[in-house]
Amino acid sequence: MNFESAKSQLTKVLVTEEQIKTRVAELAAEIDAKYQGKEVVLVGVLKGAIMFMADLSRALSIPTSMDWMALSSYGSGTVSSGVIRIRKDLDAEIHGKHVIIVEDIIDSGLTLSWLQTTLNSRGAASVEVVAFLRKPAAAKVEVPVWLVGYDIPNEFVVGYGLDYNEQYRTLNCVAVLDPKVYS
Ligand code: PRP
Repeated sequence: MNFESAKSQLTKVLVTEEQIKTRVAELAAEIDAKYQGKEVVLVGVLKGAIMFMADLSRALSIPTSMDWMALSSYGSGTVSSGVIRIRKDLDAEIHGKHVIIVEDIIDSGLTLSWLQTTLNSRGAASVEVVAFLRKPAAAKVEVPVWLVGYDIPNEFVVGYGLDYNEQYRTLNCVAVLDPKVYS
């Protein structure tokens, strides 16, 4: 789906399809340079990270395996509590492996903070974070993040994996959702 086809529900494009492509290639080059000769597992958090994971993993030259977790945070509505439940765990052991957490967005940082602690406690050789988007103004906890695609304003964004009520994940850019859709 492109911006034109959902134009009446979106206010503006924040990251275009072209910008996504360029930035993903830059991020992949940084990963390639740092992880030469290492056994790397890309860990994606469902479902938001699917598009970024698909693009980033294919842009890498180093061999990697891919694994997924599904998490849900306890708490009401859109306010995350920081208490995380694992709905689907990784399929493989990460002990001794170099883990790269691949996230679509860091909002409050609560999900990531919990995930970093959890994966470190499983004996990973290293745990780094690559996030495509980050909302600095929404941060509730400071999370060490190695690479970020774009810092964006604290607005309701959709597309490139990000949803509103499971809609707009397949939008090929990152756009701001018109408040009239959710108010
Ligand atoms: C989103 C996103 C991150 C998390 C970030 O997932 O994919 O995992 O929220 O928020 P935080 O920094 O405030 O913890 P969401 O729970 O919306 O699930 P989804 O990826 O399936 O849409």
